[in-house]
Amino acid sequence: MNPHSDIEKILVDEKTILNRIDEMAAQINTEYADEDNIIIVSILKGAFMFTSDLVKRLTVPHIVDFMALSTYGEKSEASGEVRVIMDLRHPVQNQHVLIVEDIFDTGLTLQFLERILQSRNVASLKKCVLTQKEGRENPSLNIDYLGFTIPDVWVVGYGLDYADKHRTLPYIAELKQEVYL
Ligand code: IMP
Ligand code: MG
Repeated sequence: MNPHSDIEKILVDEKTILNRIDEMAAQINTEYADEDNIIIVSILKGAFMFTSDLVKRLTVPHIVDFMALSTYGEKSEASGEVRVIMDLRHPVQNQHVLIVEDIFDTGLTLQFLERILQSRNVASLKKCVLTQKEGRENPSLNIDYLGFTIPDVWVVGYGLDYADKHRTLPYIAELKQEVYL
């Protein structure tokens, strides 16, 4: 495989991602075994690929809904501001909600989401996140299902982008610093 010239190196290859998603789905299937429905809240665009591979492996009854948020604009620096670009189609009151997100960086996005969804009086709320940057753990914002801890660099692929580019690479890779700094 010959990665794109903007790519520094592959951090998690496709097979490793899918193997880990097998494990995460198995855990979700076990922990939600008694529920008759889960609402999967997938955060666009970054979580689209992860969501797709995850839900194929779910045996517990669920529906998938989407929300689009904006945090970063075109740059790789957090603006500190989160906006809802597109809201859910389904009401979530009294529903078991599982947020599916691509990455935990500063945690602002998940914190914001958690606040919005809790205010809609959900029955339960959990977070399933594919990657978390090293050193970003936040005890007040625990991740229920975490795929991988990755280095604190800008990553792309498997849904993750830089200015909307490199999102469809099948692996998670570090972007060359000269591209984003
Ligand atoms: P947070 O709010 O700082 O946790 O950032 C979460 C959002 O920022 C994610 O949903 C991503 O869209 C984006 N993001 C943060 N770090 C990266 C990265 O390394 N690559 C691509 N997107 C990122
Ligand atoms: Mg993004």
